[in-house]
Amino acid sequence: MADSITITDNRTGEAVEIPIMDGGIDSKSFSKLLPGVWFHDPSFGSTSGAASAITELDGEAGILRYRGYPIEQLAENSSYLEVAYLLIFGELPTPEQFEDWRYEITHHTFIHENVRKRFMEGFHHDAHPMGILVSTIAALSTFYPEAKDLSYDTLMKQVVRLIAKMPTCAAGAYRHSVGMPFVYPDNSLDFAANFLSMMWKTAEPRYDANPVLARALDVLFILHADHEQNCSTTAMRTTGSSHADPYISTAAATAALYGPRHGGANEAVIKMLREIGEPANVPSYVERVKQGETRLQGFGHRVYKNYDPRATIIKRTADDVFQVTGKNPLLDIALELESVALSDDYFISRKLYPNVDFYSGLIYQAMGFPMDMFTVLFAIPRTAGWLAHYIELLDQDSRIYRPRQLYVGHPVRDYTPIERR
Ligand code: CMC
Repeated sequence: MADSITITDNRTGEAVEIPIMDGGIDSKSFSKLLPGVWFHDPSFGSTSGAASAITELDGEAGILRYRGYPIEQLAENSSYLEVAYLLIFGELPTPEQFEDWRYEITHHTFIHENVRKRFMEGFHHDAHPMGILVSTIAALSTFYPEAKDLSYDTLMKQVVRLIAKMPTCAAGAYRHSVGMPFVYPDNSLDFAANFLSMMWKTAEPRYDANPVLARALDVLFILHADHEQNCSTTAMRTTGSSHADPYISTAAATAALYGPRHGGANEAVIKMLREIGEPANVPSYVERVKQGETRLQGFGHRVYKNYDPRATIIKRTADDVFQVTGKNPLLDIALELESVALSDDYFISRKLYPNVDFYSGLIYQAMGFPMDMFTVLFAIPRTAGWLAHYIELLDQDSRIYRPRQLYVGHPVRDYTPIERR
């Protein structure tokens, strides 16, 4: 049996045999046979928009690998900075390469004073930190005009700057929203501990984060670092395909992450758990979901039709965090919700399982992060993934992203002057 499909144009009898490669077919052969006829695939559910060597995801089997390395091994043994290197350069670093990388990132964490004073402080006191973050990343483009030069060396400078400055901008957005003075980066701390210092430091000369919490945050950063062609990465690739500079493209990706169906879901989970109030109310809430009144936040995924492997790791990380912080009181509701949903035919038949966001919000909340910082905590590590895709896209010399559309509007009609309408 041939590993191919044959498409016949019944208008002409012409046929074309297209090989199935890696589970897909190349649209070029199809377009050659049927010029002017295109696939209608809104939301790209069955369309691959890119060939990528960064992240492998098998949603049926619940597999996630960065550059071939299983997410479980990376979460257990690696650090976010090492994973960022792996995503960007394709290989794990040698000790010397890692030391250079760590040094470069650590020494690019400061942001220009004007970004902070003139720009970030200009936002209203109750501005959502994601709104501040999106705008600040876009504004960085004006501080680094050379970023428009996309040649490798200049591009890599912006890659380092973006990965390094993201926690500084994120913590700055938080400090502004609570009226606290900005905390400068501390080069003696590692990536996650430095971020926690910029978040929480008050009058002490040096803020030393609890090592269990710093490690838990680093693991969450690893888990969120990339997830192949999700909504925000597609926004990154789409914007990057017009050769917008890396800051503007990252701002576009961050904006896409903001929505409750994507990076905003962890915030929505906490709101949902609060609304449910106690474990006894879970069955009636699940009933409302089944009636289509609402969705179970943190459940379901476009590609995972199995338990999200990140959710399994996060559940374990939650245990470590709760040992230090005490149990999040919403945990019992979450566990009950998971257990009721996973034994209900509505969820089983639709293959709806907890995703990464189901437990991450509980951890962030127990660590003291306000809810509107949750998506920001997602954006910090995803920057490495977005940039890896941006580099790959330029490397592939991709054409500008430009999907076709199925026009369903009015046929041609004549303009009527306003007085005759
Ligand atoms: N609760 C209840 N029903 C659901 C849910 C849910 N969370 N998700 C999907 N369904 C149902 C949906 O109603 C539909 O049922 P039917 O076939 O009867 O119409 C079926 O499952 C298929 O849903 P869909 O809308 O076609 O699925 P999608 O692939 O377009 O949406 C999703 C994926 C993640 C947007 C969706 O599952 C959802 O809204 N989940 C809640 C939000 C969430 O947790 N998002 C975080 C995603 S993971 C982090 C990230 O990558 O950003």
